Amino acid sequence: MEKKKFYITTPIYYPSDKLHIGHTYCTVATDAMARYKRLQGYDVMFLTGTDEHGQKIENKATEAGVTPKQFVDNIVEGPRGVKDLWKLMNISYDRFIRTTDDYHVSAIQKIFKKMYEKGDIYKGTYKGKYCTPCESFWTESQLVNGCCPDCGRPVVDAEEEAYFFRLSKYADRVRDLLVNTDFLLPRSRVNEMVHNFIDPGLDDLCVSRTSFKWGIPVDFDPKHVVYVWIDALFNYTTALGFMNDRYPDSDYEKYWPADVHFIGKEIVRFHSIIWPAMLMSMDMPLPKHVFGHGWLLLDGGKMSKSKGNVVDPYILAERYSADALRYFLLRDFPFGTDGNFSNELLINRINMDLANDLGNLLSRTTAMADKYFGGTLPAEQAEGPEDAELLAMAKALRDKYEADMEKYAFQNALADIFAVIARANKYIDETAPWVLAKQESDRPRLARVLYNLAEVLRICTVLLQPFTPTTCVKIFEQLGVADELKTWDSAANFGAMPATATLHKGANIFPRIDAAKELVELEALEAKAKAAAAPAEKPAEKPAAPVAEIGEHEPEISFDEFCKVELRVAEVRACEAMKESKKLLHLTVFDGERERCILSGIAKWYKPEDLVGKRLPIVANLAPRPMMKGKYVSEGMIVAADTADGGCSIAFFGEDVPVGTRIH
Ligand code: MSP
Repeated sequence: MEKKKFYITTPIYYPSDKLHIGHTYCTVATDAMARYKRLQGYDVMFLTGTDEHGQKIENKATEAGVTPKQFVDNIVEGPRGVKDLWKLMNISYDRFIRTTDDYHVSAIQKIFKKMYEKGDIYKGTYKGKYCTPCESFWTESQLVNGCCPDCGRPVVDAEEEAYFFRLSKYADRVRDLLVNTDFLLPRSRVNEMVHNFIDPGLDDLCVSRTSFKWGIPVDFDPKHVVYVWIDALFNYTTALGFMNDRYPDSDYEKYWPADVHFIGKEIVRFHSIIWPAMLMSMDMPLPKHVFGHGWLLLDGGKMSKSKGNVVDPYILAERYSADALRYFLLRDFPFGTDGNFSNELLINRINMDLANDLGNLLSRTTAMADKYFGGTLPAEQAEGPEDAELLAMAKALRDKYEADMEKYAFQNALADIFAVIARANKYIDETAPWVLAKQESDRPRLARVLYNLAEVLRICTVLLQPFTPTTCVKIFEQLGVADELKTWDSAANFGAMPATATLHKGANIFPRIDAAKELVELEALEAKAKAAAAPAEKPAEKPAAPVAEIGEHEPEISFDEFCKVELRVAEVRACEAMKESKKLLHLTVFDGERERCILSGIAKWYKPEDLVGKRLPIVANLAPRPMMKGKYVSEGMIVAADTADGGCSIAFFGEDVPVGTRIH
């Protein structure tokens, strides 16, 4: 019988910088899903890749003094680049597409032409803000103080000829798709798309540019290059041989439409509105699902290379193993919503679940089998009253796990497994094998206790394979599990392992981490990596401004959420430079009720004497933050804007605004 197929994709990543933990998160989730489907016996196609065109990459290459292709080659194929990272993280992709691959380029040209010939792409005029020296168009929201975000010079209103896709034509069909089917998941994302984008009216979409060169030329009008989204979105089909000869047509026939595209929430609009509309225009089947996952945040804000606050997955995976990092990412954060990343959470999770619960269960079980039976359990075994609950949980586990995995609820699937593991540890305490071992007459009972533990471990390990594949091999080895007992079917068959199983104790699968020591070392390592990555005199030295970089937007929040941020006018009572840091000023501010200490990274731009007596905006309800190894506690934050020349500017209030006034 032909195997059922499953096609899953990650977004294609911009190789404008090294990838960080947020990108790793999405790829790890996709990998877990792909491995899970393979475990179930599906014929899986797992696609990932890189989105290599566009102005940003062109600019970065110019800065680096190399061609755009050389620039992206280095980030994708170079040392510690994208492919190396996926290798380190044990990502089992079947295909890797680069949008600069020839077959993709020619297919995109054909697709563009087909939509043009159909009348769904037409020539029009693109209007925007233009920086003449940089030859770049910007949108209003990207400008900084009304000027070019790159060079800080004034911009002018300008127009250029461009091709547009008739997105508006498909608005009703797309609306219907979103509202009346489960195309877009989680469901909670549907309202936002419909109310914010479709209902106010969809504008046609600009799909070509003449103001930069690094893109796929429109072959019938070569001064235009295809503007990123047609190029990017169709990767999901060109990688299957659609309109090209690189892969057999049969791959497209076989795998398209995709079962699910995993993507981050900020590109849900492109995947749930623009992508289906383009496929409708091409008369192609639509993917079954698009799942918009949440972001990993750092200190509550978005990670971004330009803010210098990214977490390097390399450091973490090399230090704690890819499996530990994979497990943590999918166990700690619900896939559909945002989560706050921290090293502390990571280390606690490794210690609690992997070293304590799983690691101990395995080492206790195998050590006791070795000690009491020389490794091989005897055939004579006796059931006992403590067995029922543990066995019931283990027998129900696969179905429960499956239900969660089908909903992409990785966190719950892992919680299910670890509930059984915790129960098994409790079972050891209840049955007290070391007491049973004292009486010859209790040996059959002792053998059954160890057998049950080994079976529980086997079933849990089968189901952990999509998450921690390397460790699972080691566990199976210690339990002596034959290949046919590592399968999906066998996970629903408690008791499948022969009674006379042979176990042996091996190395600790997850050594316990000394959290306090490790946190300090990690911080130092990350600071070192950050310093090495940051260009001289660059943002690492700027205050940790709570504002988004140009062109980046924080996730949308409700008015009520905004109201939770308590912004107040405070008066600077004292201000001093700090001997411990050249970057920081130590301010004592009065917030209308009390004095508080704030350490702010503005020393480069403000002298203490410029600030004393001034009234300025602070975030008053920020959790106090110990700094300088706990010597100071900073109790708030000064609100400031980045200036176009890389400096910082505080908006001061006049004496007519009373100290303590709330800012709305
Ligand atoms: N190239 C486009 C995608 C085109 S897909 C046809 C792109 N690239 S990206 O590199 O900027 O982002 C790729 C993915 O990484 C997005 O899904 C984005 O949400 C995800 N992440 C980037 N930072 C992230 C976090 N901090 N947390 C989780 N995912 C995040 O967009």
